[in-house]
Amino acid sequence: MVLTSTPRRPLQSLLLHPATKRALFVVALVPFTLLVIGIVRHTLGANPAETLIRSLGDWTLRFLCLTLAITPLRQWTGLAALARLRRMLGLFTAFYATLHFLAYAVFDMELAWSDIVRDVGKRPFILVGTTAFLLLLPLAATSFNRAIRWLGAARWQALHRLVYAIALLAILHFFWMRAGKRNFGEVAVYAAILGVLLGWRVVRAAQGRYFMKLGSQSAKG
Ligand code: HEM
Repeated sequence: MVLTSTPRRPLQSLLLHPATKRALFVVALVPFTLLVIGIVRHTLGANPAETLIRSLGDWTLRFLCLTLAITPLRQWTGLAALARLRRMLGLFTAFYATLHFLAYAVFDMELAWSDIVRDVGKRPFILVGTTAFLLLLPLAATSFNRAIRWLGAARWQALHRLVYAIALLAILHFFWMRAGKRNFGEVAVYAAILGVLLGWRVVRAAQGRYFMKLGSQSAKG
Protein backbone atom coordinates (compact mmCIF):
# COMPACT_ATOMS: atom_id res chain seq x y z
CA MET A 1 0.00 0.00 0.00
CA VAL A 2 1.27 3.49 -0.91
CA LEU A 3 -0.14 6.73 0.54
CA THR A 4 -2.24 8.80 -1.88
CA SER A 5 -0.49 11.66 -3.68
CA THR A 6 -2.53 14.53 -2.11
CA PRO A 7 -0.98 14.48 1.41
CA ARG A 8 2.28 13.21 -0.07
CA ARG A 9 3.13 16.30 -2.14
CA PRO A 10 3.71 18.84 0.71
CA LEU A 11 5.72 16.21 2.61
CA GLN A 12 7.82 15.50 -0.47
CA SER A 13 8.54 19.27 -0.89
CA LEU A 14 9.43 19.54 2.79
CA LEU A 15 11.86 16.63 2.48
CA LEU A 16 13.42 18.21 -0.63
CA HIS A 17 13.88 21.59 1.10
CA PRO A 18 17.59 22.24 1.85
CA ALA A 19 16.70 23.27 5.43
CA THR A 20 15.37 19.76 6.19
CA LYS A 21 18.81 18.19 6.00
CA ARG A 22 20.25 20.97 8.15
CA ALA A 23 17.44 20.49 10.69
CA LEU A 24 18.11 16.72 10.80
CA PHE A 25 21.82 17.43 11.36
CA VAL A 26 21.03 19.68 14.33
CA VAL A 27 18.47 17.23 15.81
CA ALA A 28 20.92 14.32 15.45
CA LEU A 29 23.48 16.27 17.49
CA VAL A 30 21.05 16.82 20.40
CA PRO A 31 21.93 13.54 22.27
CA PHE A 32 25.65 14.36 21.92
CA THR A 33 25.10 17.93 23.17
CA LEU A 34 23.05 16.73 26.16
CA LEU A 35 25.77 14.25 27.10
CA VAL A 36 28.46 16.98 26.88
CA ILE A 37 26.29 19.23 29.07
CA GLY A 38 25.89 16.29 31.49
CA ILE A 39 29.67 15.86 31.70
CA VAL A 40 30.30 19.59 32.23
CA ARG A 41 27.55 19.94 34.86
CA HIS A 42 28.27 16.58 36.53
CA THR A 43 24.68 15.43 36.08
CA LEU A 44 25.33 11.99 34.57
CA GLY A 45 24.58 10.21 37.85
CA ALA A 46 26.67 8.18 40.28
CA ASN A 47 28.60 6.42 37.50
CA PRO A 48 29.05 8.99 34.71
CA ALA A 49 31.40 6.76 32.66
CA GLU A 50 28.82 3.96 32.57
CA THR A 51 26.00 6.40 31.70
CA LEU A 52 28.11 7.85 28.90
CA ILE A 53 29.14 4.49 27.40
CA ARG A 54 25.61 3.07 27.63
CA SER A 55 23.86 6.18 26.28
CA LEU A 56 26.24 6.32 23.31
CA GLY A 57 25.61 2.59 22.68
CA ASP A 58 21.84 3.21 22.78
CA TRP A 59 22.12 6.11 20.32
CA THR A 60 24.25 4.02 17.96
CA LEU A 61 21.53 1.37 17.89
CA ARG A 62 18.75 3.98 17.47
CA PHE A 63 20.49 5.62 14.50
CA LEU A 64 21.10 2.19 12.98
CA CYS A 65 17.36 1.44 13.23
CA LEU A 66 16.49 4.84 11.71
CA THR A 67 18.92 4.27 8.83
CA LEU A 68 17.41 0.85 8.11
CA ALA A 69 13.87 2.27 8.35
CA ILE A 70 14.35 4.70 5.44
CA THR A 71 13.93 2.24 2.55
CA PRO A 72 10.77 0.51 3.90
CA LEU A 73 9.28 3.93 4.80
CA ARG A 74 10.13 5.28 1.35
CA GLN A 75 8.42 2.36 -0.36
CA TRP A 76 5.42 2.36 1.98
CA THR A 77 4.75 6.13 1.75
CA GLY A 78 5.96 6.67 -1.83
CA LEU A 79 8.11 9.56 -0.50
CA ALA A 80 11.19 9.10 -2.69
CA ALA A 81 12.86 12.16 -1.10
CA LEU A 82 13.27 10.24 2.19
CA ALA A 83 16.31 8.62 0.56
CA ARG A 84 18.14 11.99 0.85
CA LEU A 85 18.27 11.53 4.62
CA ARG A 86 19.67 7.98 4.68
CA ARG A 87 23.34 8.86 4.23
CA MET A 88 23.29 11.38 7.07
CA LEU A 89 21.57 8.90 9.40
CA GLY A 90 24.16 6.25 8.49
CA LEU A 91 26.99 8.68 9.19
CA PHE A 92 25.47 9.56 12.56
CA THR A 93 25.34 5.81 13.35
CA ALA A 94 29.10 5.70 12.73
CA PHE A 95 29.60 8.94 14.69
CA TYR A 96 27.85 7.61 17.82
CA ALA A 97 29.54 4.18 17.44
CA THR A 98 32.96 5.90 17.36
CA LEU A 99 32.14 7.96 20.46
CA HIS A 100 30.78 4.79 22.20
CA PHE A 101 34.04 2.96 21.46
CA LEU A 102 36.18 5.97 22.49
CA ALA A 103 34.23 6.39 25.76
CA TYR A 104 34.87 2.69 26.52
CA ALA A 105 38.57 2.98 25.54
CA VAL A 106 39.13 6.14 27.63
CA PHE A 107 36.95 5.59 30.73
CA ASP A 108 36.82 1.77 31.06
CA MET A 109 40.28 0.92 29.74
CA GLU A 110 42.25 4.18 30.29
CA LEU A 111 43.56 3.89 26.72
CA ALA A 112 45.64 0.79 27.55
CA TRP A 113 45.50 -0.73 24.05
CA SER A 114 46.96 -4.08 25.08
CA ASP A 115 44.20 -4.38 27.73
CA ILE A 116 41.61 -3.48 25.08
CA VAL A 117 42.89 -6.23 22.78
CA ARG A 118 42.81 -8.68 25.72
CA ASP A 119 39.26 -7.57 26.59
CA VAL A 120 38.14 -8.21 23.00
CA GLY A 121 39.44 -11.79 23.31
CA LYS A 122 38.01 -12.29 26.81
CA ARG A 123 34.45 -10.89 26.65
CA PRO A 124 32.30 -12.16 23.77
CA PHE A 125 30.00 -9.11 23.83
CA ILE A 126 33.02 -6.82 23.35
CA LEU A 127 34.25 -9.00 20.45
CA VAL A 128 30.83 -8.82 18.78
CA GLY A 129 30.57 -5.02 19.33
CA THR A 130 34.08 -4.52 17.94
CA THR A 131 33.24 -6.61 14.86
CA ALA A 132 30.10 -4.53 14.26
CA PHE A 133 32.12 -1.31 14.68
CA LEU A 134 34.90 -2.45 12.33
CA LEU A 135 32.32 -3.41 9.68
CA LEU A 136 30.67 -0.01 10.06
CA LEU A 137 33.87 1.92 9.27
CA PRO A 138 34.20 0.98 5.56
CA LEU A 139 30.51 1.81 5.08
CA ALA A 140 31.00 5.28 6.54
CA ALA A 141 34.19 5.78 4.50
CA THR A 142 32.42 4.86 1.24
CA SER A 143 29.18 6.73 1.80
CA PHE A 144 30.22 9.61 -0.49
CA ASN A 145 29.37 10.01 -4.18
CA ARG A 146 33.02 9.80 -5.19
CA ALA A 147 33.36 6.40 -3.44
CA ILE A 148 30.24 5.13 -5.24
CA ARG A 149 31.78 6.17 -8.59
CA TRP A 150 35.15 4.67 -7.61
CA LEU A 151 33.72 1.30 -6.49
CA GLY A 152 30.98 1.03 -9.12
CA ALA A 153 27.31 0.69 -8.17
CA ALA A 154 27.25 -3.14 -7.93
CA ARG A 155 30.31 -3.42 -5.68
CA TRP A 156 29.16 -0.46 -3.58
CA GLN A 157 25.76 -2.08 -3.05
CA ALA A 158 27.33 -5.43 -2.16
CA LEU A 159 29.60 -3.70 0.40
CA HIS A 160 26.71 -1.76 1.91
CA ARG A 161 24.73 -4.99 2.44
CA LEU A 162 27.11 -5.41 5.40
CA VAL A 163 24.68 -3.18 7.28
CA TYR A 164 22.43 -6.24 7.79
CA ALA A 165 25.29 -8.16 9.45
CA ILE A 166 26.04 -5.06 11.56
CA ALA A 167 22.41 -4.96 12.73
CA LEU A 168 22.50 -8.63 13.77
CA LEU A 169 25.85 -8.19 15.55
CA ALA A 170 24.61 -5.04 17.31
CA ILE A 171 21.58 -6.83 18.74
CA LEU A 172 23.75 -9.82 19.76
CA HIS A 173 26.17 -7.38 21.49
CA PHE A 174 23.26 -5.82 23.40
CA PHE A 175 21.74 -9.24 24.26
CA TRP A 176 25.07 -10.62 25.53
CA MET A 177 25.77 -7.49 27.56
CA ARG A 178 22.39 -7.80 29.32
CA ALA A 179 22.58 -11.62 29.66
CA GLY A 180 24.46 -11.38 32.98
CA LYS A 181 21.54 -9.60 34.65
CA ARG A 182 18.85 -11.37 32.57
CA ASN A 183 17.47 -7.95 31.69
CA PHE A 184 16.11 -8.40 28.17
CA GLY A 185 13.18 -5.92 28.01
CA GLU A 186 14.86 -3.26 25.86
CA VAL A 187 16.81 -5.87 23.89
CA ALA A 188 13.48 -7.46 22.89
CA VAL A 189 12.13 -4.07 21.68
CA TYR A 190 15.18 -3.39 19.47
CA ALA A 191 15.24 -7.02 18.27
CA ALA A 192 11.57 -6.70 17.23
CA ILE A 193 12.22 -3.40 15.37
CA LEU A 194 15.26 -4.83 13.57
CA GLY A 195 13.35 -8.08 12.92
CA VAL A 196 10.62 -6.13 11.11
CA LEU A 197 13.11 -3.98 9.16
CA LEU A 198 15.25 -6.94 8.05
CA GLY A 199 12.26 -9.30 7.63
CA TRP A 200 10.62 -6.78 5.29
CA ARG A 201 13.72 -6.90 3.07
CA VAL A 202 13.76 -10.70 3.03
CA VAL A 203 10.08 -10.75 1.95
CA ARG A 204 10.71 -8.09 -0.75
CA ALA A 205 13.70 -10.02 -2.11
CA ALA A 206 11.69 -13.29 -2.18
CA GLN A 207 8.81 -11.50 -3.96
CA GLY A 208 11.26 -10.02 -6.49
CA ARG A 209 12.71 -13.46 -7.24
CA TYR A 210 9.20 -14.98 -7.54
CA PHE A 211 8.02 -12.32 -10.02
CA MET A 212 11.25 -12.60 -12.05
CA LYS A 213 10.74 -16.38 -12.30
CA LEU A 214 7.10 -15.84 -13.28
CA GLY A 215 8.19 -13.28 -15.91
CA SER A 216 10.80 -15.59 -17.45
CA GLN A 217 8.29 -18.50 -17.49
CA SER A 218 5.65 -16.42 -19.28
CA ALA A 219 8.31 -15.12 -21.75
CA LYS A 220 9.24 -18.76 -22.58
CA GLY A 221 5.57 -19.83 -22.74
C1 HEM B 1 27.90 -0.86 15.99
C2 HEM B 1 28.53 -1.09 17.13
C3 HEM B 1 27.92 -1.06 18.50
C4 HEM B 1 26.61 -0.92 18.90
C5 HEM B 1 25.35 -0.73 18.05
C6 HEM B 1 26.62 -0.96 20.36
C7 HEM B 1 25.49 -0.84 21.15
C8 HEM B 1 25.47 -0.97 22.52
C9 HEM B 1 24.29 -0.95 23.34
C10 HEM B 1 22.87 -0.76 22.81
C11 HEM B 1 24.68 -1.08 24.62
C12 HEM B 1 23.78 -1.18 25.85
C13 HEM B 1 23.45 0.16 26.42
C14 HEM B 1 22.48 0.04 27.58
O1 HEM B 1 22.64 -0.81 28.43
O2 HEM B 1 21.52 0.84 27.58
C15 HEM B 1 26.12 -1.20 24.63
C16 HEM B 1 26.88 -1.34 25.77
C17 HEM B 1 28.24 -1.41 25.77
N1 HEM B 1 29.06 -1.51 24.67
FE1 HEM B 1 28.48 -1.33 22.75
N2 HEM B 1 27.90 -1.14 20.79
C18 HEM B 1 28.72 -1.21 19.70
C19 HEM B 1 30.08 -1.36 19.69
C20 HEM B 1 30.87 -1.46 20.81
C21 HEM B 1 32.31 -1.52 20.84
C22 HEM B 1 33.21 -1.46 19.61
C23 HEM B 1 32.68 -1.61 22.13
C24 HEM B 1 34.05 -1.72 22.72
C25 HEM B 1 35.09 -2.27 22.14
C26 HEM B 1 31.50 -1.60 22.94
C27 HEM B 1 31.47 -1.67 24.31
C28 HEM B 1 30.36 -1.58 25.10
C29 HEM B 1 30.38 -1.53 26.56
C30 HEM B 1 31.62 -1.58 27.44
C31 HEM B 1 29.05 -1.42 26.98
C32 HEM B 1 28.53 -1.23 28.38
C33 HEM B 1 28.69 -2.44 29.23
C34 HEM B 1 28.26 -2.16 30.67
O3 HEM B 1 27.99 -1.04 31.05
O4 HEM B 1 28.21 -3.16 31.40
N3 HEM B 1 30.41 -1.51 22.11
N4 HEM B 1 26.58 -1.12 23.35
